[in-house]
Amino acid sequence: MEVLRIILRLFCVFSSIEGYKVLVAFPLPVRSLNLLGEGLVRHLLNAGHEVTYITAYPFKDPPKKNFRQIDLSSVKSVFANQNKLNTGYMMNNRHTNDIYYVQELALNCAKATFADQNLQNLLQDTSESFDVVVADLLETEIYAGLSAVYDCPMVWLYSMGAHSVALRLVDQPANPAYASDYLTGHIPPLTFVQRVEQLWAHVQWYFLKWFFIQPEEKVLYQRTFEPLLAKRGRSLPDYQDLIYNASLMFSNEHNALGNVPAIPQNFRFVGGFHIEDPPKALPQDLQAIMDSSKHGVIYFSMGSTWQSKDIPESVTRGLLNMFGELKETVLWKYEENLPNLPPNVKIVQWAPQHSILVHPNLLMFISHGGLLSSTEALHFGVPTIGIPVMFDQYINVNKAVSSGYALSAELSDDLPNTLRPLIRDMLDNPIYRQKAKQSSMIYHDRPATAGQELVHWTEHVIKTKGAPHLRSPALRIPVYQKLYLDLLLVVVVLLFICKKALSLVFKKKVSQKKKNN
Ligand SMILES: *[C@@H]1O[C@H](CO)[C@@H](O)[C@H](O)[C@H]1NC(C)=O
Repeated sequence: MEVLRIILRLFCVFSSIEGYKVLVAFPLPVRSLNLLGEGLVRHLLNAGHEVTYITAYPFKDPPKKNFRQIDLSSVKSVFANQNKLNTGYMMNNRHTNDIYYVQELALNCAKATFADQNLQNLLQDTSESFDVVVADLLETEIYAGLSAVYDCPMVWLYSMGAHSVALRLVDQPANPAYASDYLTGHIPPLTFVQRVEQLWAHVQWYFLKWFFIQPEEKVLYQRTFEPLLAKRGRSLPDYQDLIYNASLMFSNEHNALGNVPAIPQNFRFVGGFHIEDPPKALPQDLQAIMDSSKHGVIYFSMGSTWQSKDIPESVTRGLLNMFGELKETVLWKYEENLPNLPPNVKIVQWAPQHSILVHPNLLMFISHGGLLSSTEALHFGVPTIGIPVMFDQYINVNKAVSSGYALSAELSDDLPNTLRPLIRDMLDNPIYRQKAKQSSMIYHDRPATAGQELVHWTEHVIKTKGAPHLRSPALRIPVYQKLYLDLLLVVVVLLFICKKALSLVFKKKVSQKKKNN
């Protein structure tokens, strides 16, 4: 009897940690996005799930158990001739955001993705099944088609914050009058001009999306997915129905820096989930540099896309001279050899960023303000000087500035002179470090870690068959009902009828009067 009970108990334990089959799709060939993909894979595997990872950056040393990857390296060719994604180019061609360029780039990547043979092999195999699809969301919703293939719930992982164009997919667009996002980078309260700029940016975004990009997406969707569904005996769902049908959206941000509009129930902040804490030990040479810098260390990195080596030579020399004036050590992630360095400047071609940021001798981080670097600075409580280049970097830096632990510098030929007083201010003024620690405390003060949330909500979506209870009712009604345009129509018609009736009565009275006279 006792033995039977133990066996039963064991059975219950094992069946309750049943692993699910998760398809994780990060097809965009952007290194930082794939760092998010790797973080997601790591958390799902640790929770005992079986993961298939579609990526342009396959693991070099892939996890052994419950894991396989679909190698999409071929998609990198789309990025090969993108001269715009270059720090030097952006220095000479300043513009905040080229919306059409980014949408078109995402669409071209999608075309290359679905043409890839490795992915086709997976999609063509009708014996494959998944419990959920978790896909990266950036400027195209076409990957929702994967959930149609496997007839399973869809979860987005949005690499940015609660921005309007993502919220529209799970609720409705946020009001541009106070919702900040990557399209302009403005922080509320907005001035009149900023408010107009924000509205105009949204009008442009929707115009391009609806009239230029979405028609092409629909063609690609039909061409790619119709045969795949036919093979499985199902018909293709309408594209519009599908892209507004995600069960949940994860956002790679945290609300510690404020300025977040209202969000729906199925929108979860998981910013920081990619960070390994505590970080790995530093390599010996770096550990020695960090430990022995008695005046402290300034760390400078432009991230993985915007490389320092592309900064024009004259500006690089100017930066080296300016860094050379300091008594602090400057650790610069510079992707090539750089001769004739001042004695206090050290170059690393690759930097274990988490391990540097956590070091007690680190004084500040000079960064391009990408969301991964920004979140890491927040996680480890490091004051920052942001040099935004493109996309969401402006809003990330502006939010950190408004929280009081960052300063912002413009990327230009005059960068050495722009940076000099900012570095001085940050070295001399302890307020930046205090504010960084304060924001970091807010960020860490949550009931569960970002990784735990990620796993919990993914499982929740599977267990509840798509979490329909979390869906915003706003998705069920058309725009004219939201804006009460039907009521407006009724009122206008009533007013019209009233006016007609009144004028009839009035006319009768006048004619009666005339008769009486
Ligand atoms: C929307 O998602 C639910 C839950 O995953 C699913 O049952 C339904 O078929 C989906 N509808 C469309 C049009 O994709």
